[in-house]
Amino acid sequence: MYSEKVMDHFMNPRNVGEIIDASGIGTVGNAKCGDIMKVFLKIENNTIKDAKFKTFGCGAAVATSSIATELVIGKSIQEALGITNKAVMEALDGLPPAKVHCSCLAEEALHSALWDYSEKNNILIEGLEKPKTDIGHGHAE
Ligand code: FES
Repeated sequence: MYSEKVMDHFMNPRNVGEIIDASGIGTVGNAKCGDIMKVFLKIENNTIKDAKFKTFGCGAAVATSSIATELVIGKSIQEALGITNKAVMEALDGLPPAKVHCSCLAEEALHSALWDYSEKNNILIEGLEKPKTDIGHGHAE
């Protein structure tokens, strides 16, 4: 049912944790399943230098947030915006249909962290909208 990559990122998630001096922090939650994802980004000179996550959720949510942090490190902000849930799923060699929403949460968590960064720095990131699943800060622990 799950690809080897999904299982690998679920069993050995990359970039778990927090960034103390994060440039942007995004927390999103799926109201239906109750899963919560929190993403921390360190951004310097328009480049994502580091990314970490904490996910309270299903295995696919853990795997998608893990791969999303891997995909986003080293990217520019505009490139990071291009990391859609489809890109996340492709990088994991697919997800079962019932788990597609978990990859959406990963995309939204990235957007939420970028939104936080844009608000804190008073900059406009073209093409970025605040995700509807954004639940603000301090709910992921
Ligand atoms: Fe909720 Fe996967 S079941 S994110």
